[in-house]
Amino acid sequence: MTTKKEMRSRRIRIKNALQASRATTGMCVCGWARTVRRGKEVTFIALNDGSCLANLQVVLTPEMDGFESASRCGTGAALHVEGDLVVSPAAGQSWELHARKIKILGDTDSDYPLQKKRHSFEFLRSIAHLRPRANTFSAVFRMRSALSFAIHRFFRERGFLYVHTPIITANDCEGAGEVFRVTTLSPEQPPLAEGDVDWRQDFFGERTGLTVSGQLQGEMFATAFSDIYTFGPTFRAENSNTSRHAAEFWMIEPEMAFADLADDCALAEDFLRYLVRFVLEECAEDLTFFHQRIESGLIDKLEKLAGADFSVMSYSEAVERLQNASTAFEFPVAWGEDLQSEHERYLTEQVVGGPLFVTDYPADIKAFYMRNNDDGRTVAAMDLLVPRVGEIIGGSQREERFEVLEGKMRKTGIEPQNLRWYLDTRRWGSCPHAGFGLGFERLLMYVTGMENIRDVIPFPRTPGNARF
Ligand code: 4AD
Ligand code: MG
Repeated sequence: MTTKKEMRSRRIRIKNALQASRATTGMCVCGWARTVRRGKEVTFIALNDGSCLANLQVVLTPEMDGFESASRCGTGAALHVEGDLVVSPAAGQSWELHARKIKILGDTDSDYPLQKKRHSFEFLRSIAHLRPRANTFSAVFRMRSALSFAIHRFFRERGFLYVHTPIITANDCEGAGEVFRVTTLSPEQPPLAEGDVDWRQDFFGERTGLTVSGQLQGEMFATAFSDIYTFGPTFRAENSNTSRHAAEFWMIEPEMAFADLADDCALAEDFLRYLVRFVLEECAEDLTFFHQRIESGLIDKLEKLAGADFSVMSYSEAVERLQNASTAFEFPVAWGEDLQSEHERYLTEQVVGGPLFVTDYPADIKAFYMRNNDDGRTVAAMDLLVPRVGEIIGGSQREERFEVLEGKMRKTGIEPQNLRWYLDTRRWGSCPHAGFGLGFERLLMYVTGMENIRDVIPFPRTPGNARF
């Protein structure tokens, strides 16, 4: 049995307090003071506990216990408030809390960096440990959490198995040489063999690094469970300081057995649409904030996407369109060259004005595992491009023919012996299969309108930056 006194001191979330259906006496909330407006007769504290964007207005009057000391608390102080929830006479809020008792759990001082209402994102990045207390970031990270849940829900509803692929691996799945090394060997005096570092003496007995993708191991599971997905951190030592690349990012990688490139595109389209619908329905308050403050027209853009079919264009057609464009690009366009971000954005923003699948890229610019098309020069690959962000998804049908795959490995300088385990699935019970990777941060950039990847991941890792 709980006593009345215990019930009174039980904290409720500010989100729930603000959604109350009636006035309540004896309510307890905790949070951090966003602003404190002191007066002789009355002090107003805007309290936020991260459960929603809105603050709860706490009203302090001289009749209450400790009015003087509580009124002196600083912006950012952590407070425990007991009081009565009453209808607010102020515009823009239904409820306010008339405090009876306030405990300052942790006060602050004038050095607290979040005194002002608005700060630049750049400045806030330099205080990444405190920025979750700023409105924009509180909205971003609530969205990030909600979307993670939606991702699992989508796959669970479709019967996909969730598999945890390893973080440490001996393979560079993408073959782009962007692997962060993992080693316990001495950096000053590593053991040598024939003039090179003797990796056989390393912890795992071979050269290992942090994974750039869970795909190869995901494929092993797809050829046992049919439909699987991974959702985890991936690492790339890409020394590019762009607003769309991070050295540590999260990726969602579904893999389907008995599926081809068209099935793959269909899944990607359903997936993105599902996630967009989810945020429209479940994250309305935060989305409205982004719509008003970050990207005008954001909600209209998302509503349009939720209802429309995505466009599809082959790489060859994309190149033709780009070559005929009147825009002057910084990078030249030629068949056989990878599309640059400016090209991707032109295609999705100017040519189709919405999401666009570009398919069937030249084999020479794509990873070894993609399935060769019959034309002998392209592979069954797809990238999904969206306005403002560019590539958000990369995927393909996989090469399931043993000899062809082995040949592709040799051609790209991969010793088949080192990927025997991967080739084994092509020896025994091989089947057509396909999958893709969605960059979680790119998705967040798309649905929030935030323009820098550093602002949608809690503690960004980019070249020269791993402090927090
Ligand atoms: O196109 P990528 O390199 O594809 C793969 O890794 C495949 N193995 C996926 C698969 O088929 N299972 O990466 C997939 C997505 C990109 O489209 C992009 O959204 C994101 O991952 N991405 C990055 N996001 C942030 N920072 C980086 N450095 C990224 N590199 C890729
Ligand atoms: Mg890619």
